[in-house]
Amino acid sequence: MLCSNLSVTPAGRLLFAGVDLKDLVAKYGTPFYVMDEDRIRALCRMYTEAMRDAFGKDARPLFASKAASFREMYRILKEENFGADLVSCGEIYTAATAGFAMENTYFHGNNKTDEDLAYALAQGVGCIVVDGVDELHALARLASEKGVCPKILLRITPGIDPHTFEEVATGKVDSKFGEAIATGGAMAFVREALALPSLSLAGFHCHVGSQVFDAGVFLKSARVMLSFIKDVHRETGFLAGELNLGGGWGVRYTASDPVYSIRDNLLEVGRAVRALCAELSLPMPRILMEPGRSIVADAGLTLYTVGSVKQIPGYHNYVSVNGGMADNPRFALYRSPYTIVLPEKMNEKKTMLCSVVGRCCESGDILQENVALPASVRRGDLLAVLTTGAYNFSMASHYNRLPHLPVIMLSGGSDRLVVRRETLEELVARDL
Ligand code: LLP
Repeated sequence: MLCSNLSVTPAGRLLFAGVDLKDLVAKYGTPFYVMDEDRIRALCRMYTEAMRDAFGKDARPLFASKAASFREMYRILKEENFGADLVSCGEIYTAATAGFAMENTYFHGNNKTDEDLAYALAQGVGCIVVDGVDELHALARLASEKGVCPKILLRITPGIDPHTFEEVATGKVDSKFGEAIATGGAMAFVREALALPSLSLAGFHCHVGSQVFDAGVFLKSARVMLSFIKDVHRETGFLAGELNLGGGWGVRYTASDPVYSIRDNLLEVGRAVRALCAELSLPMPRILMEPGRSIVADAGLTLYTVGSVKQIPGYHNYVSVNGGMADNPRFALYRSPYTIVLPEKMNEKKTMLCSVVGRCCESGDILQENVALPASVRRGDLLAVLTTGAYNFSMASHYNRLPHLPVIMLSGGSDRLVVRRETLEELVARDL
């Protein structure tokens, strides 16, 4: 099994977080996202402890909200004493109205509008991660008008290709994010920031990519960023007190993804950061990280009901479900691999190869290709796509006017609805 929260009964039924999915279907219908709160909390605790062990007591994990942003998530994060990275007024509003302490938030984005910045200041966001020089000046103006001096980090692109999906490789020089060290842009950015008295520069941020299994990527970016901190100190006298190394740790979508320990990797990065600080004669900055995917991905799955099963002899088999690219666009966008199972037929041999497709009106509406399922698959069967806790709910669309799915949270064997299913009335609520 991909994750410890999945098990199979002797009768061949899948249990998720100890719960038989059939019981949830009776109560909520399909399709839905279901999430394992105990897994989310265990991962939060792992990060908190491992970061403390790796980087010292001031180190802090922030949850990258873009992976899964709804109120209950922020309530859980708050109880786990996590910080949060937020990237829009929508995420700020969701966190604030869930009672999340705004001083523990970091506001990101490569193109924050003046309205976004003003909203972040009004809400008391803890730190603004400034992405470029235009934003720096806009923020300085708004802050001085308001008579505040917000804490900021500067987003720096260390120029590292994490050898992952091109679309999410954000740390390279050629990027819409941040200012690059290699071009001299980053040093100029720092000088501009230091010259603005209405902003309080605390340090730097970088993020090199997503779905990374190799600690080497983080070792490289830590080395580049610490050397940059040293150069900045030498050239400007400013000593960064905070270094945010971003998110990106990978998760297992299929059995062929590596099994690895994030804790061990963090400890390795911690040893390297200490050694580098000693080598560069730098005091250890406060280290932050922003895991998103690795906190929620395997804490979630999506449950559908099979509709049509179409076999085209000599060609292809299609198994259609009552959802698809509107609730999970990741195969359509990135050809992301997923593991798909029939939760009530776990002991049956998987002899039929098929494409699992959605119900949207386009051929690209595919959840996964080359899936092996039991040949008995038929209309009415339940079908689960595993590891959908990250970037599914948050990337869902209303394509074909499909309502958004509900989110059910499981904890200690009991279930509760944390986001309800969207109604048809809500779909037209904004239409005049
Ligand atoms: N921090 C920053 C500044 C980021 O841009 C991201 C992700 C993260 C943290 C969190 O990375 P994670 O730990 O989740 O890998 N929609 C894509 C993923 C895009 C990630 C963008 N930034 C997907 O579905 O795979």
